[in-house]
Amino acid sequence: DYRKEAYRPQIHFSPKSGWMNDPNGMVYHKGVYHMFYQFYPDSTVWGPMHWGHATSRDLVRWQHQPIALYPDSLGYIFSGSAVVDAANTSGLGKEGKAPLVAIYTYHDTAGEKKGRKDFQTQGIAYSNDDGKTWTKYSGNPVLRNPGIVDFRDPKVMWYAPDKKWVMTLATKDRITFYSSPNLKDWTRESEFGATIGAHGGVWECPDLFQLEQGGKKHWVLLVNLNPGGPNGGSATQYFIGDFDGTAFTPADTATRWLDYGPDEYAGITYANTGDRKVFIGWMSNWLYGQQVPTEKWRSALTIPRDLSLAAAGGKLYVASKPSKELATLAKPATTLNQLKAGNASFVKTFSLPARLELQTEQLQDFQLVFSNDAGEELIVGYDKTANQYFVDRSKSGKVDFNKDFAGRHTAPRFATAKNTDLTLVIDHASLELFADKGLSVMTEIFFPSSSYNKVVLKGSTGFQQVRYWPLTSAL
Ligand code: FRU
Repeated sequence: DYRKEAYRPQIHFSPKSGWMNDPNGMVYHKGVYHMFYQFYPDSTVWGPMHWGHATSRDLVRWQHQPIALYPDSLGYIFSGSAVVDAANTSGLGKEGKAPLVAIYTYHDTAGEKKGRKDFQTQGIAYSNDDGKTWTKYSGNPVLRNPGIVDFRDPKVMWYAPDKKWVMTLATKDRITFYSSPNLKDWTRESEFGATIGAHGGVWECPDLFQLEQGGKKHWVLLVNLNPGGPNGGSATQYFIGDFDGTAFTPADTATRWLDYGPDEYAGITYANTGDRKVFIGWMSNWLYGQQVPTEKWRSALTIPRDLSLAAAGGKLYVASKPSKELATLAKPATTLNQLKAGNASFVKTFSLPARLELQTEQLQDFQLVFSNDAGEELIVGYDKTANQYFVDRSKSGKVDFNKDFAGRHTAPRFATAKNTDLTLVIDHASLELFADKGLSVMTEIFFPSSSYNKVVLKGSTGFQQVRYWPLTSAL
């Protein structure tokens, strides 16, 4: 039973077997959330990429579906997006009905081996049965490569003011925007980013969308980066600014990170969810993702997170909060008032998966120590002097499969108030921390020899209220 395997995520999506990386083609259609993902079914390491497929009505309970896209003569199927072509601009809909259209990157390994630079191109595929089966467009590729080695991960959206599609494409060290009336013919519009943002590695998997704050709409540009993340390896940075259908103009030159932990990457948002923006990332890191000690599969996705804009210290940030659907997994809560530091587990029968919410009026140093009977421990805390949240997984269990895995990771605190709230979502092999209403976020994976079954509070922060929800498995 795959559900009982060691480290198997119970409240996160993971493939039953094989290798997974980026979430792809996330689109909401007729009450169903489609999740496609970078998938290599024949091994637990990266290889010829397919688009795996899963569906859900609540973003939490997923049904595995047959593979949607297989590699073909044009190449492996790399990351990309999917849209509902409501007006059938592509003409690919049957009897004029709206098709689903996927826009993805072809990665031609033969071309790469020959030393060509143009081995990544963009292709499209369509579905006229609500995403069950997909047909690749006969005119692929729809966007040829102008000679840029890294030319990939198209995220397409409908830009209503100009009645056109806009493609946000990662092009090596910058973003290039393209537009199209029909998803087939693409025109280059502009580029952004060569001299701004973090550039420790190549830019990948971008996303462009609007969020409202205080009655004003802002454009947010997500840009995944590998390597060069704040705690090493791959991570998601973003820019806030304006987009006029042609070009993106950032409001300032600051580098911001959506998630400071090492284990959220390639995250982007759902298409066709209206003003709601639901974000999901790959819950791993290219530094060690192919070496983690799971046997039959590798990697999971983060929980769904709702994105919003929030101001702190006179600056705007994108905040992430667990999507409300997660609450459907909650068993009855245990509430504790006036929790002070102590040596005993403050929850008598602590078990994973779980959600914890903690509130304090006076944030000082604290450490929440999760541990198991083997004495392995994961520490989540706040260091007041450094004004940083941190997660220390140095002694969290198996850590020696890669030299970059063990360690203590930090996230700056942006909120300036004395009081704070923390939400922790913990599965058998992962922790997601949302502090200050999602302003500081960290995602961390770990591999203890048995699940943590104890949680102790240390330090000087007293929590006025703590709520603990055991979660039922979503599998
Ligand atoms: C990001 C990425 C993408 C690419 C895909 C290949 O993790 O490198 O840029 O499309 O993975 O699997």
